[in-house]
Amino acid sequence: MITSPLSSDRTARLTRRMAMSKQLATIRVENVSKQYGKVTAVDRLSFEVHPGRATGFLGPNGAGKSTTLRMILGLDKPTSGWALVNGRPVGSRRLPLFDVGALLDPKAFHPGRTALEHLLCMAAANGIGRGRVDEVIDLVGLTNVAAKRAGGFSLGMGQRLGIASALLGDSPGDRSGTGVHLPQFPACIRPPGTPQPVGA
Ligand SMILES: Nc1ncnc2c1ncn2[C@@H]1O[C@H](COP(=O)(O)OP(=O)(O)OP(=O)(O)O)[C@@H](O)[C@H]1O
Ligand SMILES: [Mg+2]
Repeated sequence: MITSPLSSDRTARLTRRMAMSKQLATIRVENVSKQYGKVTAVDRLSFEVHPGRATGFLGPNGAGKSTTLRMILGLDKPTSGWALVNGRPVGSRRLPLFDVGALLDPKAFHPGRTALEHLLCMAAANGIGRGRVDEVIDLVGLTNVAAKRAGGFSLGMGQRLGIASALLGDSPGDRSGTGVHLPQFPACIRPPGTPQPVGA
C-alpha cells in the first residue's frame, strides 16, 4: 500500500494553516507618515504585502524605506496612519516573533553574548522553547560558533545570527508549548553573503 508521507492529521493541520495564512497574513501600511522635526521621512504611504511572494521595497537613498520597515516592526511610531501585520500593530503583540521576523541590522545583538545566549533571550521573551533555538542555529550553519561571543563575529556570521533570530517564530510545529501558530513573515531578509542592495 502506498501511504502519504504526511499523516492525514498533519495534512489537515497544514491545509488549515495555509488557508488561515492566506486570509490573515498581510502587511498593511495605511496612509502612513513619519515626521522627524522638519524632515518628512515618509509621506502618506499605503501598500499591502501578501504571503508567498518575494516582494521588493525599492527607493533612492533617504526615501524612507528603513523608516517604513521600523514602523511596520513597531520600532518607530507613525506620526499618522497605521502599519499593521496581520491586522494589528506589531508593538501591540505579546509574542511578536510569531507574526514577523526581521533582519534590519546584522549587528543588532549584545556583543558580549554568545549566539546561543542571544537566541535563548529572544526565544524566552516570545515563549519559544530551546528545541527551536537549536534548530535555527543548525539551519543557518552556526553550530560550530554558537558558544562564541557574537561581538567577534564576521559580518556574514552576524547576518546568519540575524536570520536565525528572524526565523525563531516561524515554527511549523508546536515547539514552543504555547500553542500559538500564526502566519509568518520572515520578512526583510537577505540571504547571508549576498551584498546589501543599494539603499536597502
Ligand atoms: N531617527 C531619525 N531622526 C531624524 N531623521 C531621520 C531619522 N531616521 C531617518 N531620518 C531621515 O528620514 C529620511 C528617510 O530616512 P531612511 O533611513 O528611512 O531612508 P532609506 O530609504 O532607508 O535610505 P537608505 O537607502 O539610505 O537606507 C532621511 O531624510 C533621514 O535623514
Ligand atoms: Mg535604509
